[in-house]
Amino acid sequence: MVGCALPDDAGVFRIGEELALVQTVDFFTPVVDDPYQFGQVAAANALSDVYAMGGKPLTALNIVAFPTCTLGIEVLREIVRGGCDKVAEAGAVVLGGHSIEDSEPKYGLAVTGIVHPDKVVTNSGAQPGDYLILTKPLGTGVLATALKAGMLEPEDEKVFVEVMATLNAAAAKAMTHIGVSACTDITGFGLLGHLREMACNSKVDAEVWVSQVPFLPRVLEFASMGILPGGAYANKEHVTPFVEFAEEIPEAEKDLLYDPQTSGGLLIAVPEDRKEALEGELRNQGVASYRVIGRVVGEGKGKIVVRRESK
Ligand code: CO
Ligand code: CO
Ligand code: CO
Repeated sequence: MVGCALPDDAGVFRIGEELALVQTVDFFTPVVDDPYQFGQVAAANALSDVYAMGGKPLTALNIVAFPTCTLGIEVLREIVRGGCDKVAEAGAVVLGGHSIEDSEPKYGLAVTGIVHPDKVVTNSGAQPGDYLILTKPLGTGVLATALKAGMLEPEDEKVFVEVMATLNAAAAKAMTHIGVSACTDITGFGLLGHLREMACNSKVDAEVWVSQVPFLPRVLEFASMGILPGGAYANKEHVTPFVEFAEEIPEAEKDLLYDPQTSGGLLIAVPEDRKEALEGELRNQGVASYRVIGRVVGEGKGKIVVRRESK
């Protein structure tokens, strides 16, 4: 049902009238020092692509690359324990996995979920007039860079890890309960990169209201100092041709719209007549960090206009 022809968060394969498989894989190098926390973040990130499709995770397989000789097996055990605990929190099970020796540690999971074939949420269904809702604040790429530079206070690091380790399960539950037009999760391409993909696949144009976009604590300060990951520049270069800044917007805020996220929130396109219901359901599910950040303005080729406020 969803495959290589139109890039989406996960593949979807119908196996019956009432059932389709959702399959995805994701792994990366450590973003935090604590191995248990790294495992949790990597698992939340891998599970997220199932949630973004409206699916429910069922099983997962560990993918491990690890320098056993230099780091020791205890560190690896902690990473995998973090991952398995997060998968259990999602109501799924880890069935096994595969590991290789590698000089740089890498961890992630291949996740299989299920979804009703009629309830698949793709990134290509956004409609003119839809509101755009983002469920987590932006800035994890900037904070990862600040952490590496030794500039994060322990309390900033705590928020940083917490937001990345938070499952998109509750947001997805609200979304599938209400029924929405489209969804994707914000990861490596940043808010504008993933919105661009959604808008392009949906054949619509969109606008973003930067005053409504939620940012993590201190990320504006760090971005103003030029503490940005390399990925932000790469995203900027790829997406800039499709983005227009309608007004004077501080450079740091622009940069954050391109900041690559690890285990970012869901970006949901919801019809106007379901917006209130979705907001109510997100609050019911405890997703207090969501914001209405923009709107689909009409049919088009995936152009994005960034304004300070909604008109
Ligand atoms: Co994704
Ligand atoms: Co992915
Ligand atoms: Co094997």
